[in-house]
Amino acid sequence: MVVLDGKALSTTIKNEIRVEVDQIIARGERPPHLAAVLVGNNPASEAYVGNKVRSCEQVGFSSTLIRRPESTTEEELLHIVRDLNEDPDVDGFIVQLPLPQHINEEKVTLAIDPKKDVDGFHPLNFGRMAQGLPAYLPATPQGILLLLERNDIETSGQHVVIVGRSNIVGTPMGLLLSRKDKMGNATVTMTHSRTKDLASETRRADIIVAAIGIPHFITADMVKDGVVVIDVGINRIADASRKSGSRLVGDVDYDAVAPKSKAITPVPGGVGPMTVTALMLNTLKARRKEISY
Ligand code: GUN
Repeated sequence: MVVLDGKALSTTIKNEIRVEVDQIIARGERPPHLAAVLVGNNPASEAYVGNKVRSCEQVGFSSTLIRRPESTTEEELLHIVRDLNEDPDVDGFIVQLPLPQHINEEKVTLAIDPKKDVDGFHPLNFGRMAQGLPAYLPATPQGILLLLERNDIETSGQHVVIVGRSNIVGTPMGLLLSRKDKMGNATVTMTHSRTKDLASETRRADIIVAAIGIPHFITADMVKDGVVVIDVGINRIADASRKSGSRLVGDVDYDAVAPKSKAITPVPGGVGPMTVTALMLNTLKARRKEISY
């Protein structure tokens, strides 16, 4: 069994990005600049945004964190988005989700200039991705493709079962893995909360992508021997043995599933760091103005 070490791979890729950034700076140009907007005090969002800012420092990017209180109005947030769209010193930016209840996430996502949408959440980027055109790919699916590629895990002809159909993970993951591309050509089954006899689907999988957001949802009886398991879940559960009183677990019952697996991602240290690294790659793409719309 191989543990797919996303933490180590993300360090390797971040070092590769750093080399490119040093070259940009050596040419007398400014480094890539990522901005992040964080509204409210969601603890998970604070941690994710903190990781993004830290990663920017590691790869030599500039970063700007725009923090606003929970009480921020939709109009105020849209104003911030418009300013970032027009700021020539910002290559790309993200608005961390979820947003407070009174703000329409769809409206905010639509207001982001697709050229700066390094999350790949704007429907224009999503549509371009679906058609195989150059686009910002959403960070988590892109990070998973990199993790598979750099660990020499073949996707062509493989049966991938995706558990969870979110707009930011499950759905784009299915599109990317099934397209005609180096890390594609898989046969994809998309499953979700209404799937009948889910275990019979997951047991047929050569590769499982678990992105359902339920701790330890994938159990040993749901997988075949030799499966590759990609665990996207980041769930905080109570653990009295920890000083903090809690710990992070994935959507997969790791201890029971790992012995049956050919390869598996740990939580933490698997998909999570790859997601942040993919965002850095998108920001580099934005700086290079690689995608023409
Ligand atoms: N919330 C959870 N994941 C993400 C992400 O990748 N980007 C943003 N903007 N918000 C998130």
